[in-house]
Amino acid sequence: MLKISSLKKLVTDSMAIDLGTASTIIAVKGRGVVLDEPSLVAINETTEEIVAYGQEAADMAGREGRDVVVKAPLIGGVVADFERTKKMLAHFVKKAKTGGSNISIQAVMSLVSDVTHVEQRALLNAADDAGIGKVYMMEEGLAAAFGAGVLPTDKRASAIVDIGAGTTNIAIVAKGSVVQSTSERYGGNEINESLATHLRRHRGLQVGEETTELLKTKFSSAYLPDDISRSMEVRGRDVQTGSPAAVEVTAGEMYAIVEAIVRRIAIRVKDTLTELRPEVAADIYDRGVILTGGGALLEGIDQYMRSFINLAVTVADEPRYATVNGLVKMFDDQKLLERVTLNELSVLQNAEI
Ligand SMILES: Nc1ncnc2c1ncn2[C@@H]1O[C@H](COP(=O)(O)OP(=O)(O)OP(=O)(O)O)[C@@H](O)[C@H]1O
Ligand SMILES: [Mg+2]
Repeated sequence: MLKISSLKKLVTDSMAIDLGTASTIIAVKGRGVVLDEPSLVAINETTEEIVAYGQEAADMAGREGRDVVVKAPLIGGVVADFERTKKMLAHFVKKAKTGGSNISIQAVMSLVSDVTHVEQRALLNAADDAGIGKVYMMEEGLAAAFGAGVLPTDKRASAIVDIGAGTTNIAIVAKGSVVQSTSERYGGNEINESLATHLRRHRGLQVGEETTELLKTKFSSAYLPDDISRSMEVRGRDVQTGSPAAVEVTAGEMYAIVEAIVRRIAIRVKDTLTELRPEVAADIYDRGVILTGGGALLEGIDQYMRSFINLAVTVADEPRYATVNGLVKMFDDQKLLERVTLNELSVLQNAEI
């Protein structure tokens, strides 16, 4: 007969965690995506305490109270601020849990492929502190591929380009393994920075993050717009006078900035595709490239990429969720999970919560 305490421990949440530069996305086996929030914390500068996490922190950004500052603890896909990453992860895991403190958690998390040992350890420690019992780590490119519908049994190669906020990860996968991968600490955030710099230098307007994000996602595209003079009013702070101000920007003006960033990503993809072995190259020639990550949502990026590399380019369904969807699928196949995860890292196995 089972005692109540041991019975409770039979309940396990299987969590997939995509701890990204811009967003943390968590899916629980059987429940799908349960959390999707900005990877941000709001900090009281006097006490150094975290006063808000995720969406709540994002809502404060740019309009913080005097003592509060909103920060991203992850930069370029890596843990820049270890203590706050830990706290943020713990907060999100708690929020995503099915309920009850006795539920144990096993988790699979993604790692960009060029992550250093120090960074790996930082992430693992953060997961341990977050009360996750067993942690599996797997390469982000492989997770994104599975999430985009590539089958682990497929012996032919597929190419996945994940364009995140802080990183672009290019992975070639076959038979459920990464054949080749490159990752660059360069992603969608660069577009925002470039737009803000342009507005400040050439239009004399200082703008906040919310404004650049809106400009990028609602008004910009990776291909030359039909009507380059189409305009939008952008508001912010006049660089010279400091007063509240607005300028009209055109679609053509924004395109030039966005295209420069997208071109850099496309060059990287093209270069990677020239380094493949002949059979792998043949597979990719047949199948083309799959885009995942939030950057794949940029208007026209697939079209741009297609003409740049001269291959078929498709955007995965729910590109922002490709990685987490791929991670959560791993719980359906324990053998595959063990094989694709980096077992030497499972030093935290069976820790109790
Ligand atoms: N509609 C859109 N158009 C253009 N860019 C978009 C759109 N929606 C989201 N993005 C961009 O996608 C990026 C976020 O993508 P994603 O959520 O995949 O990043 P992440 O996983 O947090 O980052 P990383 O993988 O680099 O750690 C941001 O730069 C965001 O501005
Ligand atoms: Mg990502």
